[in-house]
Amino acid sequence: MAGMSTAHAQTDSDKIESADGGIGVSIGRILKLLARSELAKWRPVMVLAVLLTLGAAVLEVVFPLLLGYAINQLVADEAGLVTGAAAAALWLAIAFAIKFLAGGLPQLRDWLFSPVSQDAQRVVCVDAFGHAQSLSLGFHQTRRTGALNRVIERGASAIDYLIRFLAFNIGPTIVRLGLAAIALALAYDAWLAVIAVTTIVIYAVTTIMITEWRVRQRRKMNEADTRFRGIAVDILTNFETVKSFAAETRETGRFNDAMQNYNHRYVDAVRSMYVLNAAQALVMNLGFVAALVLSAWRVSQGSMQIGDLMAVFAMFSSLYAPLNILGWAWREIKQGAVDLEKLYGLLQMKPEVADRPNATTLTKPEGRVTFENVGFTHDARAIGVQDISFETPPGKKIAFVGTSGAGKSTLLKLLFRFYDVQSGRVLVDGKDVRDLTQESLRNALGLVPQDVVLFNETIKANIAYARPDADMDALRDAAKRAQLLDFIEGLPDGWDTRVGERGLKLSGGEKQRVGIARVILANPAVLVLDEATSALDSATEEAVQGALDEAAKGRTTLMVAHRLSTVQNADEIIVLKAGRIIERGPHEDLLALKGEYADMWARQAKRDALAVAAE
Ligand SMILES: Nc1ncnc2c1ncn2[C@@H]1O[C@H](COP(=O)(O)OP(=O)(O)O)[C@@H](O)[C@H]1O
Ligand SMILES: [Mg+2]
Repeated sequence: MAGMSTAHAQTDSDKIESADGGIGVSIGRILKLLARSELAKWRPVMVLAVLLTLGAAVLEVVFPLLLGYAINQLVADEAGLVTGAAAAALWLAIAFAIKFLAGGLPQLRDWLFSPVSQDAQRVVCVDAFGHAQSLSLGFHQTRRTGALNRVIERGASAIDYLIRFLAFNIGPTIVRLGLAAIALALAYDAWLAVIAVTTIVIYAVTTIMITEWRVRQRRKMNEADTRFRGIAVDILTNFETVKSFAAETRETGRFNDAMQNYNHRYVDAVRSMYVLNAAQALVMNLGFVAALVLSAWRVSQGSMQIGDLMAVFAMFSSLYAPLNILGWAWREIKQGAVDLEKLYGLLQMKPEVADRPNATTLTKPEGRVTFENVGFTHDARAIGVQDISFETPPGKKIAFVGTSGAGKSTLLKLLFRFYDVQSGRVLVDGKDVRDLTQESLRNALGLVPQDVVLFNETIKANIAYARPDADMDALRDAAKRAQLLDFIEGLPDGWDTRVGERGLKLSGGEKQRVGIARVILANPAVLVLDEATSALDSATEEAVQGALDEAAKGRTTLMVAHRLSTVQNADEIIVLKAGRIIERGPHEDLLALKGEYADMWARQAKRDALAVAAE
C-alpha cells in the first residue's frame, strides 16, 4: 500500500476520486477482502479452487507429453518394433482422458467459486452503500444518484473480474508456462523452451503495451458513458420541468450530443482492439513457425520422432490457448483496478460531519434550542449566515422570515447538523450538537420541508418510516392528528395505497400531511417547519396549517414561513436579510417598529385584499 500515505485527505465535499493504487494494491485489497471474517465459511472452497486450478495446469502440460508418447508407440508398432497397437490406443485414451480432466477442473472450480465471488461483492457493496449514506448532505446534493450507484456496481464487478483473471487465468498461465518450459527442455530440446518463453514474453509485453493505450481510450469512453446516462436520467426525472418549459426538443438535442460523444469514444475504443488482435496473431504465429521448423529439423535428423513433433505442436497450442484473452483480461484487470480503486476512494472519503469518538447521546430531550453567534457560508459563496444568536425555551415557537436566499433553510440545516458551523455554537438542551451523536440529535428533531418527498411505497410504509415498529393504532392516531385519516380510509386501497415515485400520486397538500403524520408519529421534542405550506394554494394551506398546529402542540417549534399570517402567533419572530438578523421580537412589536417586517406585512395584507376582491 505504498503511495496511500501520500494521498491527500479527502473529505466528502470533494468528488469521488480513486484511491491511488495500481494492480498490486488491488490484489492486496482483494486478498484482504477474502480474508474477512464474513467470508470465513468459504475458506475451504477457496483452497479447493486453488488446488483445482493448479491441478488443471499440471494436467494441461502432461497431455501433450502423453499424446506424443502414444503416437510414437503407434508409429513404432507400424514399423513392427514393439508393444502393439492396443497399448498405443490405451495411451491415447489416457491422454485424452487427461485433456478432458484438464478442461473440466476449471469448470468445477468456477461452479464452486461463484457463490464466493457473489458474497465478496455483497460485503463490499454493503460497506460502500452504508458509507455513502453516512456522507454529508453536501456530498449527495452535488452528485448524480446514478453515478454513485455505478461506482458501487462497477467496483463490485471488478472484484469478480480481478479474481477470475488474476487467480484463474494469468496465474495458472504462468505456472503452465514454467512447467511446459521444463518439460520441453527435458523431453526434447532446450531451444523449444526458449522459444516458448520468448514468444510468450514478447506476446505479453506487446499485448500489455497496446492494451495500456487502449485502457486510456476506454476510460474516455466510460466517462462519456457516465455523462450520457446521467443526462438521460436527469432529463427523465425532470420531465415536469422539461414539459412545462416546452423544452423537449432542446433536451433531446442535449441527449443526442451526449450520445454522439459517447459513440465517437466507443468507435475509438473498438478500433484499437483490431490493432491489438493483429499484433497478437503475428507474434503467436511466429512462435509456432519457429517451434515447428526446429522440431521438423530434429525429426529429419532423427533426434526427435514424429510423435514428439505432435507433442510440441499440442504443447504450444495449449500454451497459447489462454493467451487469446490476455489483452482482454489485462484490460479488465486494469479497468477492474481502476473501478476498485474508485470504490475504495468512496469508502475512504471522510464524512464532513461525523460523530466525535466521545459523542454523547441526547436522552429525553426537552427541546431547548440555542444558537450562539453562529456563522456559516457554503463554500465559495459570498454570503452565508452571520452572527446568529437566539434561544427557544422548550415548547416555545420561533419563526424565521425573510426573502428567499436570506439563509433561513441554512439555519435549520445547521440545527440538524447537516453541516457544521464555521463559528459560534448550536446547542440543543445546552449541549453542543457536535458533541452529540447524530442519531440521537436527529431523533430529537422532526422536519417538515417545503416538499415532502415520499418513498415509492404504501402510505402506511411512508408514515411508519418515522417509527417502523409503530402499531396500527399509533399510525391511525398520527394520521388523524395530521387530518389525513379520512382521506386514507376513503381510498380504495386504504393504507396500502401506493404513492408512486417520490409521492407523485398524491396532491401537494396530501403529501405535506403525510409528512406531518410522519413527524407526529416520530414525536420529536423539536419540530422544524421549512416553508411547510409554501407550495400549497391558500385553501389547502389553511387545511394543512391545522395539522401543523396540532403537530406543534407541546413541542419547541422552529418555523420558516412565507405567509406572515402563519407566524404571527410565534413567541419570537426573527427577520433575516442576507444572512443577518435585522429585526426580532413578537409580531406586535415588529409591526410597531415599522421596519422591514411591517413592510412585508403591509405588502401581504394588500395582496390578500386584492385576491379576495378578485374572487
Ligand atoms: N448546498 C448549497 N451550496 C451552496 N450554496 C448554497 C447551498 N444551499 C444554499 N446555498 C446558498 O446559501 C444562501 C442561503 O440559502 P437558504 O438558506 O436556502 O435560503 P432561504 O432558505 O432563506 O431561502 C443562498 O445564497 C443559497 O444560494
Ligand atoms: Mg429555504
